[in-house]
Amino acid sequence: MHILLTGGTGLIGKALCRYWTTQGHQLAVLSRTPQRVKELCGPQVQGIARLEEWTGESLDAVVNLAGAPIAERPWTQKRRTLLWDSRVTLTERLVEWLASREQKPAVLISGSAIGFYGDGGERELQEDAQSGNDFGSQLCAAWEAAARHAEPLGIRVALVRTGLVLAPGGGFLQKLLPAYRLGLGGRIGSGQQWMSWVHLDDQVALIDFLLNHPAASGPYNACAPQPVRNAEFSQALGQALHRPTILAVPAPLLKLTLGELSTLLLGGQKALPAHLQEAGFTFRYPELPAALASVLGENRH
Ligand SMILES: NC(=O)c1ccc[n+]([C@@H]2O[C@H](COP(=O)([O-])OP(=O)(O)OC[C@H]3O[C@@H](n4cnc5c(N)ncnc54)[C@H](OP(=O)(O)O)[C@@H]3O)[C@@H](O)[C@H]2O)c1
Repeated sequence: MHILLTGGTGLIGKALCRYWTTQGHQLAVLSRTPQRVKELCGPQVQGIARLEEWTGESLDAVVNLAGAPIAERPWTQKRRTLLWDSRVTLTERLVEWLASREQKPAVLISGSAIGFYGDGGERELQEDAQSGNDFGSQLCAAWEAAARHAEPLGIRVALVRTGLVLAPGGGFLQKLLPAYRLGLGGRIGSGQQWMSWVHLDDQVALIDFLLNHPAASGPYNACAPQPVRNAEFSQALGQALHRPTILAVPAPLLKLTLGELSTLLLGGQKALPAHLQEAGFTFRYPELPAALASVLGENRH
């Protein structure tokens, strides 16, 4: 297949490129640094700076994952604009470009996050649950809506509401590891908030599954079937690293330093991958301890 990716140089995108290259697919990545695409995504992958540079005859699928990092900095007005433009505006442009093409791809797999639901408290969140009202929810909802504009073009649209991706050498886990390795890790706030997580291998496998299942469309919670509370996550990570986790990050401190961004850490989602499981997808890493052991094992090499 000829597949075009946005965000192909990111944590998930690079893993997808590696996997799909071994499957024999032909890949192009839209990037702000196209000259780095071969180095990051593999020598067979073409980097392009603008959609118009796509020269392939037929385009079979588009995977849209680009977006400025959501949890890196407090959500100032300037940051919100960047988070919005790099997802919603970029997706709008992508769909406009698809509309202008005579030959359309069969499928658009477009990013979203379980942040779509806002802080879900104790509710079990399947894909039919309502979106939240905070900035993160509004961003995801607008990102999804922009992608869905490809549906009237006859393109199948699958929306990947991703949980916290556990990956060797990247993602949120890598930010936690230094403190945990020093024995300074611990729960955040009350520790009761739910965390929906997914192993990177499963994230790649489920996107590949959505690519190859012509009936797959609409939203998919991309998270393992066994979400955990933050305190349980903290304990499992401490155990995997053989370190204590007796400290806790106080909620008022996070609110003071991070503003609305603190809702990402103090709130949570008990999201369940109902649509993926109904469609027959099976997770290789359904349980957290095995997922952490796999990711941390790879980190040591
Ligand atoms: N990883 C997670 O735990 C997680 C969880 C939920 C949702 N998601 C979402 O899933 C998507 C992929 O995740 P990821 O972890 O692979 O992301 P990532 O590693 O942060 O990579 C995202 C890619 O987006 C592009 N990008 C960054 N800033 C941009 C900007 N200002 N304008 C345009 N493009 C920009 C970059 O590509 P270039 O530098 O090549 O332009 C980058 O490689 C993201 O949108 C993310 O929000 C991820």
